[in-house]
This record gives sequence, structure tokens and C-alpha cells, in this order.
Amino acid sequence: MSQELRAVDWTGSGLALIDQTLLPHRTETVDIRDVDSLVDAIQRLVVRGAPAIGAAGAYGVAIALIQGEREDWTDLQILQAVARIREARPTAVNLMVCVDRVMTRFAEGLDAVLEEAAAVQREDIEANRAMGVHGADWLIKKAGVDRPLRIITHCNAGALATSGWGTALGVVRELHARGRVEVVYADETRPLLQGSRLTAWELAQEGIPHYVQADGAAAGTILRGEVDAAIVGADRIAANGDTANKVGTVALALACADAGIPFLVAAPTTTVDLATATGDDIHIELRGEDEVLEWGGVRTAPAESRGHNPAFDVTPGRLVTGLVTERGVLEVSAGELPGERLK
Ligand code: MRU
Repeated sequence: MSQELRAVDWTGSGLALIDQTLLPHRTETVDIRDVDSLVDAIQRLVVRGAPAIGAAGAYGVAIALIQGEREDWTDLQILQAVARIREARPTAVNLMVCVDRVMTRFAEGLDAVLEEAAAVQREDIEANRAMGVHGADWLIKKAGVDRPLRIITHCNAGALATSGWGTALGVVRELHARGRVEVVYADETRPLLQGSRLTAWELAQEGIPHYVQADGAAAGTILRGEVDAAIVGADRIAANGDTANKVGTVALALACADAGIPFLVAAPTTTVDLATATGDDIHIELRGEDEVLEWGGVRTAPAESRGHNPAFDVTPGRLVTGLVTERGVLEVSAGELPGERLK
């Protein structure tokens, strides 16, 4: 992905979002100028990934202000619209954190809101760059191999999921720039295929060798010794290190623990939620049944079947080898409260 192409971009009068439901076959942007369209875009995963929806939510406050002015809303109506954006998806804490941050400038008016939203984006890119360096340094030193690495990742934690560069994929890009990537196993990520559609697309753009594999192949690939380390993103990290990420992530963590290889989580400190004590307290989004009962809009399961479609799972903190943030790599050991060390 070229550095200029941004998943979330403020045009001066609205938000330009790359429509991630159309990738990799079509690269189109949607122009968002009202709150209903933004909430819909977040819920349909036109824009997705914790830091990217955080940035979209930050600019969403500006959209609510502009629409409120245009349609003569009361202050209460504007605040209700902002609350709808904040609650568009429940699991990624970045959405709430970024909206709340921008709301601290609400009383100062549109220019201040836009300035704060731009700062959210700028800091996200800076954090991702720093994570890339810290994560790559750590893996080169600690993965215990002297050759280019074989990395596994799940879902998409790349430039598309952030304001730019990526978290987990940012580490992979930094490793690749240093000539230290042999291959990336990108789990396809059922049911919405963020791995095969988005991660593979980003890896292809960067010329990084990769395989797309079914999610069900991941544990076996790790246990057969074909992987040196796993690195994934996060939607919310509880104070005890329990980590919510795309459903299927915990299988990688369990297999890595059994294989004795590192399982790294890369996320900005804004994803750490000290107000959430453990993974049990994280609200896991349950999505519509059709996403798992259908394939390409055609019903695949029997008419009698119900679908169970949690969008995320929680990896216990004890299975996380290290947390890569913009401040460095926090090595996590059982029983520790890594969140406390990030205060
Ligand atoms: O449902 P999604 O596509 O928004 O889920 C995204 C993930 O689970 C990512 O791994 C996470 O948000 C981190 S993105 C840097």
C-alpha cells in the first residue's frame, strides 16, 4: 500500500474511507458527510481495525458538528449523534477513547475538534512506526533464529486497520525492510476474510512473500515447526493482559505456547484499557448469523441451522509472550499485570 493511500482521510468537508468490503478487487473510497453513513460504514466494516475506527470516530465528531449546523440540530441532538458513533461497535476501545479525546475540545468548536482528530491520526502513525522498530528489534534478538523469519498473523492489523503503516503488519514491514522475512502465513480470517482480502493485499503490494491459509490450518502449521513467531493486533487489552482480537486468534496463542515460540501482540497503548480488569469484562461483538450461514450471499447451511458469530475472542494474558507498544516490548509473564506497568 502506498504511503499516500489512507484508509481514513479528512477531505476538508468530510471523510474519505477506502471501502474495505470491496478490496482486493476494487479500490474505491466512500465520501462520508453524515452521522448515519458513518455509523453504517463502521458497522459494515467499510472501515475496520481498532485504530482506524478510532480515527474515523474522532473525525465523526466533526461530521456531527457540521451536520448539526447544516440541519439546525440542538446541542443535545449533536451529543446523541456523537454517542451513536461512539457505540457503533463495542469491542475496540480505540473508538471510545478517540471520540472521548476529541470531545474534550468540543466546546472550542469545529477547528479545535479537527485539530484534535488530526493529532489522533498523526500520533497513530508515529506509534505504529515505533512499534515496527521495537517489534523487529525484539524478534531479531529473541526469536532464536539467525535466518529470515517465518511469521504467522491473523486478521488484518496493517495500514488499512490504522491511520497508516500498521501495528502487527508494521512489525512485519520493518522486518522485511531489514531483509528478515522469509514468509508470512496470513490466516484467511473467517467469516469476512480480512486476512485473505486485506492482509494478503497489503503483503502483495509490499512484495512480501506470503501464503494465505485457512484459519483451521494455523495450529497445525505452528505445531509442525513451520513458524518462528506469531504477531497479531488487538482491539482491547485488559489490565491483566487478556487480549481481545479477531475470532480465531486464541488458537494461534495456544499453539505457540505448545510449540514454545513467541506470541506477540502489537498495539498502541491507547488499546490498553486499565478500566477493564480481565478479558471476561470485554464486550465481544456478536455479528449477524448470515455472515456464517451464507457464502457470497448464498445460503450454505441448512435452513434449520442457527449461526454463532462472535467477531472476537480473548487470548488469556498468560499466553502472550510480549506486548509491543510505541514505548517498547513489554515481556509478559504469568501472574503479572502488564497494564499496571503501562501507567
Ligand atoms: O472486525 P475487524 O476487522 O475490525 O477486526 C480487526 C481486528 O481484530 C484487528 O486485529 C485489530 O482491530 C487490530 S488492527 C491494528
